[in-house]
Amino acid sequence: MQFEQETLGLLPAALQVLEAGFAALPEAGLRVPGKERMAQVMQEVASRLRDNYPYFHPLYAGQMLKPPHPIARAAYALATWINPNNHALDGGRASSAMEKEAVAEIAAMFGWQAHLGHLTSGGTMANLEALWVAGQLHPGKKILASQQAHYTHPRISGVLGLRFAEAPCDQRGRMDAQALAELLVAGDIGCVVATVGTTGTGSVDPLHEILRLRARYGFRLHIDAAYGGYFTLAGNLAEETRAAYDLIGQADSIVVDPHKHGLQPYGCGCVLFRDPSVGALYKHDSPYTYFTSSELHLGEISLECSRPGAAAVALWATQRLLPLVRGGDFAAGLEACREAAVRLAGQLAADSRWLLLFPPELDIVVWAPRARSARLASELSQRIFRAAAARGLHLALIRLPLRYFPSLAGVPGDHDTVLCLRSVLMKPEHREWVTSILDTLDGAWRDAQGE
Ligand SMILES: Cc1ncc(COP(=O)(O)O)c(C=O)c1O
Repeated sequence: MQFEQETLGLLPAALQVLEAGFAALPEAGLRVPGKERMAQVMQEVASRLRDNYPYFHPLYAGQMLKPPHPIARAAYALATWINPNNHALDGGRASSAMEKEAVAEIAAMFGWQAHLGHLTSGGTMANLEALWVAGQLHPGKKILASQQAHYTHPRISGVLGLRFAEAPCDQRGRMDAQALAELLVAGDIGCVVATVGTTGTGSVDPLHEILRLRARYGFRLHIDAAYGGYFTLAGNLAEETRAAYDLIGQADSIVVDPHKHGLQPYGCGCVLFRDPSVGALYKHDSPYTYFTSSELHLGEISLECSRPGAAAVALWATQRLLPLVRGGDFAAGLEACREAAVRLAGQLAADSRWLLLFPPELDIVVWAPRARSARLASELSQRIFRAAAARGLHLALIRLPLRYFPSLAGVPGDHDTVLCLRSVLMKPEHREWVTSILDTLDGAWRDAQGE
């Protein structure tokens, strides 16, 4: 059996407990219209959903995708019987309290006790809030992020009417601190976005040097740790990476996505501000919503209005089961992912058919097939990607500048980018599947030679 189903049994018992909380109400006589057709429609839904890559399986080692933890799935489903809305306490009392607790636990990972924060629909919205605050605190100044930062940063800046600047990256995909220092001289950068775990290569920007520059130039530092944030709990980071993680708490704002490494279903990002007084920037009047409590409503500190209380319930339950502590089971899962990446990278580096981009900092591995030119390597990557999928191994692709692969350079008139293979090993089970992944890759490489 591919899908874990034992935990389905958690729901009816929990539902009874929930329902008992409303036992004093008169029977509402609720009916489900169309019940007769539901089984048929659900069969259709299940059939439609078969048109997917197997994100749950260790042989899916492509993009940042995997199903949530069963406790998150069950808690989310349970909450939908209430369907709370965490915009206001009027819409979701319990789930708002759970959101504040769960978010405080995320903030505590970075050593923040006092903070302001809340969940969002995802990393893009969370980054938008952080840049919106930055734009208000440094009006007229630019947002700066690296070339390898998530593609949404320039777009978000455009939406907010903020100017955007890009800093180049070094040979390990990290923001080039020397280039940043030169860009800061003009004095028009209001916020630097440092990425802790870039989407493409899992690189970690040099926080030590960025903080040194902040002390000199006084910009705001936002850390986009949408993907990499939880790795702060991992005990097996390389020394340099660990040193950067230990500085995250010095940022002005941080974004972490529970729907990436936090085992949550989609619709769960998180933005945190070190200084709670930025909450004043969100001040607005809502003639419709805030009536039942003078306590802070989450809608008073977020840009979105309606938000799923169920997302907060799922996150709270997951963190209750798997606390966000070093040395715990949750941290062990992240350590397994990183170990998988280190093992895969080690094997690829030792194999003359492949060019490893650089050793992984987190759990993303990027490599290219050795070839006589960038164009030939790119064509081969594409063929291997297809051949691997035909053999049941799902990888991803990434296009990178040729300068990352000096041994492919020097062919006159050749391409200036290389299409590479990329694998996000974000399931702990990947650690036990590295050999199988390599065997399949080996077959795909041979298939691709024959094409
Ligand atoms: C570093 C980083 N920032 C932001 C995002 C965007 O997050 P979302 O897809 O949740 O909007 C991603 C998504 O992969 C990411 O990796």
